[in-house]
Amino acid sequence: MDFPLPFPMSISTDISEIQDWIDNLLNHSGPDPHEYGDLLALVSGLKSQDVPAVRALMMPVLTPETIIGFSFTKPMGYNGDFFIIEKIYQEYVNPDPKYSRWDLFFHQLPAARAVVNRKELAIKVLAELNKRPEYRKDVLVLGSGPAREINEYMASTVNNTLWFDLLDLDQRAITYASNRNKAYKDYLTFHHANVIRFNPSNTYDLIWSAGLFDYFKDKHFVYMIRKYYEYLNPGGMMIIGNFSVSNPSRKIMEVLGDWFLYHRSEEQLLKFSQQAHIPENNAWIMTEPLGINLFLTITKDL
Ligand SMILES: C[S@@+](CC[C@H](N)C(=O)[O-])C[C@H]1O[C@@H](n2cnc3c(N)ncnc32)[C@H](O)[C@@H]1O
Repeated sequence: MDFPLPFPMSISTDISEIQDWIDNLLNHSGPDPHEYGDLLALVSGLKSQDVPAVRALMMPVLTPETIIGFSFTKPMGYNGDFFIIEKIYQEYVNPDPKYSRWDLFFHQLPAARAVVNRKELAIKVLAELNKRPEYRKDVLVLGSGPAREINEYMASTVNNTLWFDLLDLDQRAITYASNRNKAYKDYLTFHHANVIRFNPSNTYDLIWSAGLFDYFKDKHFVYMIRKYYEYLNPGGMMIIGNFSVSNPSRKIMEVLGDWFLYHRSEEQLLKFSQQAHIPENNAWIMTEPLGINLFLTITKDL
């Protein structure tokens, strides 16, 4: 049964009214599409001192049973693990009606759409690289997580000429990704390692990283560009994803998901590239269609 909304949510910042409204949402098992805008407005307008009260009220759904709650409770020990990323790619919805509406709400968030978009972008980049005439092209993926883009690229490719080194710090991510990609194992080598310390024994035509550098401080970001640029082949390309400062889902991810990232502007990313001594003409920004995931793209001259 639906309960009448007590007031137009987008204009209230009074915590007791907010609590009533959230109670109401919880009573009818989460937001309906017509309530999404009000829920987002509520969270956006939330004063920082009211965050604990809202989280406390939301506790019944801030559990691993919902995607936002999985983020909040971090059963893998950290934000952005392979399992939650895979749930976003699969657009997983918990079939239990207590939780389904929260997952449906999560998947329509622009940030979640941008994550799905970045996988599609990766597949396109891989397919383009595969068209190059050399017999073999080498790809390094930093923070490979579920390696879903590799899986979908391989599944859709008839004459593959790409060989992948996939690097992740979490052995559970490697186990999951290698099981999922068993069919393509001849082309894949997994490395259980920290990207900061890893020293590749190969050089690459493409170095791809999405969903990783947003967790690095500026100085580590610059260090990593400089480090991995050395492992690019002449004519090679390095593509590093980072959430944009324009991410409209930032506040809801922080308040309800306790998921914090370093959001960055195009100018900041290009500045990092300059600080890593990459020639100015060799760096530019790509984006996925929503412009929420930016990709610093760096080439090495032939
Ligand atoms: C948000 S996921 C992104 C996964 C994948 N790139 C994607 O876009 O679907 C980030 C991954 O980076 C891994 N990771 C985090 N810090 C790392 C580090 N210092 N070295 C290697 N991997 C790391 C995590 O274990 C996780 O699997």
